Amino acid sequence: MSQQSRSVAVFPGSFDPITNGHLDIVDRGLKVFGEVIIAILVNREKKPLFSIEERLELIREAYRGNERVRGDTFSGLLVDYAMKVGASVIIRGLRAISDFEYEFQMALMNRRLNPRIETVFLMAPEGYSYLSSRLVKEVFDLGGDVRGLVPPVVERRLREKSRPRRKK
Ligand SMILES: Nc1ncnc2c1ncn2[C@@H]1O[C@H](COP(=O)(O)OP(=O)(O)OP(=O)(O)O)[C@@H](O)[C@H]1O
Ligand SMILES: [Mg+2]
Repeated sequence: MSQQSRSVAVFPGSFDPITNGHLDIVDRGLKVFGEVIIAILVNREKKPLFSIEERLELIREAYRGNERVRGDTFSGLLVDYAMKVGASVIIRGLRAISDFEYEFQMALMNRRLNPRIETVFLMAPEGYSYLSSRLVKEVFDLGGDVRGLVPPVVERRLREKSRPRRKK
């Protein structure tokens, strides 16, 4: 077995909901690592739009049939979670300079907490460099079109969620 097919990487975040920007990072991660675990951090955001279960389901739907991608949840230290699942790498996406400072701090802290876990950054493609879950929710809420920014299953679920409210 090659090194690539054995390596496990964790891609942590809130994924409320998962966007095409996230999918792009996962897909590129799969070129380098054998398995990518999309790990939802429990309890980070106080008022999420989608529950942890819903977010997990959306991830599973988006990657149905792909054995190299798995959705999971974690709480506590990311490096502890990574050790637990046998991952030696943390993947993070970088969109703009504005992401850099926070990501840099986190990567250094995680290295200090566990030097065996390496953080790897993948750059967002130009077309997704402005894309975030928060912006998708905002645009959708204001009636904007989010097709092409999120997987179809997320778009459907956004519409289902807003239907009762919009009827009024
Ligand atoms: N469009 C994108 N391109 C590349 N990486 C991205 C993109 N959106 C998010 N990421 C990366 O995905 C990881 C998880 O981030 P997170 O869950 O905060 O997503 P987010 O879209 O920024 O959501 P929120 O708006 O709620 O902060 C982070 O490493 C983040 O940099
Ligand atoms: Mg974010």
